[in-house]
Amino acid sequence: MVNYKVADEKLAEKGKEALYIAESKMPVIGDVIRKRFSVEKPLIGITIAGCLHITKETGILARTLKAGGAEVYLCGSNPLSTQDDVAAAMVQEGINVFAWHGNTDEEFYWCIRECLKANPNILIDDGADMIVTAHNEFPELIENGTIIGCQEETTTGVKRFRAMDNSGALKVPLFPVNDARCKNQFDNELGTGQGIVSAIYGMHVLFAGKTVVIAGFGHCSSGMALRAQGLGANVTVTEVDPIKALQAKFTGYNVMPIKEALPHADIILTATGCKHVIPPTKEMFELLKGGVILGNLGHFDIEVPTKELYEYAKEINPVRKDVEELIFPDGKKVYLLAKGRLANLVLSEGHPSEVMDMSFALQSLMSEYIVKNRDSLKAGMVDVPVEIDNQVGLLKLNAMGVKIDTLTKEQYNYIHGYEEGT
Ligand code: NAI
Repeated sequence: MVNYKVADEKLAEKGKEALYIAESKMPVIGDVIRKRFSVEKPLIGITIAGCLHITKETGILARTLKAGGAEVYLCGSNPLSTQDDVAAAMVQEGINVFAWHGNTDEEFYWCIRECLKANPNILIDDGADMIVTAHNEFPELIENGTIIGCQEETTTGVKRFRAMDNSGALKVPLFPVNDARCKNQFDNELGTGQGIVSAIYGMHVLFAGKTVVIAGFGHCSSGMALRAQGLGANVTVTEVDPIKALQAKFTGYNVMPIKEALPHADIILTATGCKHVIPPTKEMFELLKGGVILGNLGHFDIEVPTKELYEYAKEINPVRKDVEELIFPDGKKVYLLAKGRLANLVLSEGHPSEVMDMSFALQSLMSEYIVKNRDSLKAGMVDVPVEIDNQVGLLKLNAMGVKIDTLTKEQYNYIHGYEEGT
């Protein structure tokens, strides 16, 4: 029996079309790994609960985990990123889904609890909410060994778990999949980088000639700056890390504090994982240029201070789907994308399938790794083994028909030794 609560089961046919498109662009997880999993069944008897963006790519991950023998439960990791058609299609395939677009905070946690009630053995999180809920509300799953290992998909979640681990509060083995090279150098840099086009989807705006302020110069934000520049924008970067700021400066961007950048910005896009990147004060709001577009691509809706902007505005008008016009007390109008939530997931479909192929290949292989090594895993953060990271890289290259060199024994000894000099 499939357990589920989705917006509308009748949307399944449309969802199947989306899954069909994703499938052809995800050869590593959808073909190579799934074929092996179908034969070897490494996940037999295992229940996996994922708190992930419910997109067509997550559907491909669910199919592969199921092919490997797992019972799969899914809930959405963000109230606005769930694609209702995909959720409906997954239910028809026997995936237990608790997710619908636009759920409230209370409903969001209800969905997480429904997944945890299934006694999952592996948790795959995106933002830490499910695993933190397991610690707080379902401690028996951890104490009695039901949960054998967990994975975290995004930077913000990894930071929360590092803080938990440092204070001794993390009670499960936790693999920060986000930190694997095959994840953050592609998903964050390319996927989120390309996500700036969500501002185009939202407002149908031309980047060329505009001043675009990108907050942060990390994995996501450096990709966003590159693509904004490629579209002809004058890019300004704001940072708090001196080395990242230097990198941005030497790459050719303007670098300045946010307060100096605000009056010139036509578009401001954040992806820092920090809060109040635009400080939530009247003084700062007054500095904003009329007509500015504000968008966030970081995990939570507090980088662009959404709550405070709503409170300050005297009028809020929906102008397009998921875009609001905020009219300030002095009559100035600013435009907020996606209620300050991940604009690339809300206004478009999230990362292209090609990059999610790698992120979810890692999640699949790590699920298998957790099962194989369940007896030796200890509570705390454990890096994704470099062999698995490299394996995903090679599988992706193979799928793309790209061949590379391998080290000869002599070369290997040279770069790993110290004897040979000039
Ligand atoms: P990162 O750690 O590589 O980069 C963040 C950068 O922001 C750092 O260089 C940091 O110094 C800078 N920063 C921090 N506070 C700042 C502030 N107040 N002002 C200016 N700069 C500041 O992190 P990454 O991987 O780029 O992730 C950033 C955020 O994006 C996280 O919340 C992550 O979870 C999220 N994310 C979103 C995705 C999406 O689909 N939209 C996909 C992947 C990650």
